Amino acid sequence: MSVSTINFSIQKAENSKVNAVEWDNLPFGKVFSDHMFLMEYADGEWKQGAIMPFQNISMHPAMSAIHYGQSIFEGLKAYRTDNNEVNIFRPDMNAKRFAESAKRMCMPEVPEEIFMEAIRKLVEIDSNWVTNRPGYSLYIRPYLFATDELVGIKPSDKYKFMIITSPVGMYYSEPVRVKIEEHYTRAAIGGVGRAKAAGNYGASLYPAKQCQIEGFHQLVWTDAKEHKYIEESGTMNIVFQIGGRLISPTEDADTILRGITKRSVLEVAKKWGVEVEERKVLVEEIVTAAKNGTLEDAFGAGTAATIAQIAIIGYRDERLELPPLEGRTLSNKIKAYMDDMKTGRIDDEFGWNYKV
Ligand code: PLP
Ligand code: COI
Repeated sequence: MSVSTINFSIQKAENSKVNAVEWDNLPFGKVFSDHMFLMEYADGEWKQGAIMPFQNISMHPAMSAIHYGQSIFEGLKAYRTDNNEVNIFRPDMNAKRFAESAKRMCMPEVPEEIFMEAIRKLVEIDSNWVTNRPGYSLYIRPYLFATDELVGIKPSDKYKFMIITSPVGMYYSEPVRVKIEEHYTRAAIGGVGRAKAAGNYGASLYPAKQCQIEGFHQLVWTDAKEHKYIEESGTMNIVFQIGGRLISPTEDADTILRGITKRSVLEVAKKWGVEVEERKVLVEEIVTAAKNGTLEDAFGAGTAATIAQIAIIGYRDERLELPPLEGRTLSNKIKAYMDDMKTGRIDDEFGWNYKV
């Protein structure tokens, strides 16, 4: 299917709510733009997609997604450039990951061209919601969920694919404090950790809450079997810097979400001649490095959080402090580079910006 044959119905909102946005006091993900996208799957095929005013949807009390969790999502962002264009960062990567998540959860895949065009058109219609305020962007949330009206467990025959968007500022307002988790588990080999499945997030809330009571922002997940290897942190992939090298857990096992931010960070670093290692990362290695002062940097990478430098790593009863942010020249430089590229201040040499 080519983009020219994709034809969405469009119903515009009568009034825009954009002027009511309190930009200086914007909670993450609570304010939504004027329109949303909806496309249904039934009878073995995708029906015509529609862009419509943002509104509630009704559901049958037996809607299968809420009973059995056939529900996946994505997260990506649109940025306003200095010359007033709108760019979406690497949506093709999200399209592919969305399809992989769908497959794992036994759901129909949304064709990449439809996924991309639905996002592009929706952001185009709500482009006045993409601000050029520094640090802000339009968060785009595509999601797919099962809508069979049935309390029997089987792959649903019907689905809704939706996209909503939300103007956002920074996810973390300060360097993050994370705690290495050695009891609870996010994902096990053979499970659904690689999929962006809704249930992964529901399951993380209780363990995360325990560390938040102790003053941390998020957990660092370790492998389910031995809790010896580091996997990822909250809704971010994790990267360490030791001896000038960037080190990050390998995504070979299917327990880690294959993050687009981390992939981009590592590609940039490699281009700059930085040595990059993606391999198993022992908890012990990181704890030792933090204690003997050789852990130069650690940061989380994710769409919502962008690059979130880590201030403190909690390990058992210890709080290991990382070096001051000013000295973290590599992650500071990568962060600035990515911001500048997304907002068109420098050349998009990797071709990652998708123009709306
Ligand atoms: N890991 C998890 C569990 C996530 O939810 C996210 C956020 O999307 C990431 C990693 C980072 O992925 P990305 O950079 O594609 O946003
Ligand atoms: C993202 O970074 O897109 C996420 O998935 C985080 C989200 C749960 C707020």
